[in-house]
Formats: sequence, C-alpha cells, structure tokens
Amino acid sequence: MSEQSNQPFITQDGSSSLISDKFGEAYHSRYGALEESNHVFIDAGLKHLIDLGKDKINILEIGFGTGLNAILTLLEIKDKPISVSYTGLEAYPISLDEASVLNYSDLLDIDKNTFIQLHECEWGQPQTFENFNFTKHQIEFERFQNSQTFDLVYFDAFAPSVQEHLWEYPFLNQIYQMCSDEAILVTYCAKGSFKRALKQCGFKLESLPGPAKKREMTRAVKCILIKSSGN
Ligand SMILES: C[S@@+](CC[C@H](N)C(=O)[O-])C[C@H]1O[C@@H](n2cnc3c(N)ncnc32)[C@H](O)[C@@H]1O
Repeated sequence: MSEQSNQPFITQDGSSSLISDKFGEAYHSRYGALEESNHVFIDAGLKHLIDLGKDKINILEIGFGTGLNAILTLLEIKDKPISVSYTGLEAYPISLDEASVLNYSDLLDIDKNTFIQLHECEWGQPQTFENFNFTKHQIEFERFQNSQTFDLVYFDAFAPSVQEHLWEYPFLNQIYQMCSDEAILVTYCAKGSFKRALKQCGFKLESLPGPAKKREMTRAVKCILIKSSGN
C-alpha cells in the first residue's frame, strides 16, 4: 500500500487526474487528461506506428501513474489484428483507492474491472488481455534494464522543471539504447534543451502541434546512421 496521498481533480475536458503528493505536480495537463493522452501518446504515437504498417508493437511507458495511457492503448487495439506488449514503469504507485476514483471507465464506456485490473495485477508479472500483453515494474526509471527493445516510448515523466535529469542526455541515451531501429518516442514536452539532448542521442525530431493550449509536442525517431566506409 502506497503511503502517498495524491489529490484527485477534474481537468477541463471532464476527465480525472491527480496532483502528486511527492512531486507537487499534476499527472496530466489541467486542460484535459484524456485529451492530452489521446493526442500525444495514442494519436502521435500508437496510431502513427499502426498507420506505418506495424502490427506487433513493444511499448515502454516512462511513468505508468494513473494507467490512463495503458487503458487507452488497450482500447485502441481492441478487436484489431495488432498485438501490443506493454511495459509500464513506476516507482511510486498510486493506491487502489486513488485508482478507484478516477473516472476513465465511465468516460470511455469500459468495464471498470479492466481498468482496476491494470492496477491490481502483480508487479513484474505479465498479464494478458487478449492482444494486449501488459507488465508493470515497480522500479525507478534510472535503474531499469532490459534485453528486449521497444518500438514506441511513451515518455511521460513529470516536467523538466521538476525532474530535470530525466530530460537530459544521460537518461535519454539510456532509453535510446533500449529502442529498436526506427522506434519512436513521444512526449508532451517541447523544451529546447530536451530536443537538443534527443538529437545528441541520435533521434531525428518532429515538432507537432500540442494538445489543448499547447503549441508544440515532440515526436522523436531513432535513426540508425549508416557509417561511411571512410572514402
Ligand atoms: C506525469 S506522471 C505519469 C502519468 C501517467 N502516464 C498517467 O497517465 O497517469 C509521472 C509518473 O512518473 C512517476 N515517476 C516519477 N519519477 C520516477 C522515477 N524516477 N522512477 C519511476 N517512476 C517515477 C510518478 O510517480 C508518476 O506516476
């Protein structure tokens, strides 16, 4: 059981979010949690890869939090010939009571049990929901190591003003090393120093319109450079 007490609130699109007790930050944009997750992670990330023809997708989520990105991913691929292996990382899980007051299942018209199961399932134990294979790890991002590579990274840490080191080269390069060739990373952040650090890792950047009231978001593509023969 978590000892934190995160404060629930309703964002401007009517969907729930939390204010983190530990970080003093909102888990989502105050203009709309659902709007932000759909725009940044589902539309610019998951749907983009599906449109490119990918039907087996390994996703890494940096910050499982409320589970909103995970449930939206499960819903997006439901009844489609696509399989997703989803790895969510979280060091400071919300409690089951906190998860229970989130209104996502009402808004998304899904069985609340499915959403709650994402929170109830054992850490480190894969759980299968038809074509959605889900594993969450209770670990600090910085300590996560994995032999598998990821095709899509939902980079959803708290903002650089709160967790600066996660938006800098050393940690981003750790993520880059876990990415498959042409993997993409999506995030709500478009800060200049962050984008420069992504480039330094070898990512190619696309600046896309952000969700409500946000001018820009970032999509980064891993580019494997072909070394010249030296001629
Ligand atoms: C912006 S919130 C994530 C929002 C989440 N994707 C959602 O839809 O609710 C960032 C999350 O990262 C977690 N977190 C922050 N620092 C961490 C760290 N160093 N290692 C692991 N988790 C961390 C927080 O507890 C929080 O759940």
